[in-house]
Amino acid sequence: MTERTFSIIKPDATRRNLTGKINAVIEDAGLRIVAQRRIRMTEGQARKFYEVHAARPFYGELVEFMTSEPVVVQVLEGANAVAKYREVMGATNPADAAPGTIRKLYAESVGENSVHGSDSQENAALEIAQFFTEADIVG
Ligand code: CMP
Repeated sequence: MTERTFSIIKPDATRRNLTGKINAVIEDAGLRIVAQRRIRMTEGQARKFYEVHAARPFYGELVEFMTSEPVVVQVLEGANAVAKYREVMGATNPADAAPGTIRKLYAESVGENSVHGSDSQENAALEIAQFFTEADIVG
């Protein structure tokens, strides 16, 4: 089933000029980048985006990291896009990520792990709506 997922190329990756290389992995996997914008995430946006992790000990560090340098927010579309992109990203901790995945190829640590992808269709819809309107998405 064609669906959408939300992706972020994180500051550790934009800092190292990896946007194009990460997009190539995404596109080679058959996902279409149907919306994309490079932004500086505000503290308010980051706190809201990671609200579910507010009680975690790494929350403050995570918000600081996500606002430290530009990120690229994206909407990806394709068959089973949520599960597909999670497969393409690899495990949260790059040490556990499978060969060929974005995190195995490029991530530096569990915190600075190059990309974010939605974990469910419900969260994908909420996350997309935080950064894009329907008019921004061109399928
Ligand atoms: P992400 O998929 O964006 O969603 C939550 C993020 O929290 C996760 O990727 C990691 O970047 C971050 N995270 C998870 N565990 C840790 C940790 N132990 N220390 C710092 N950041 C973490």
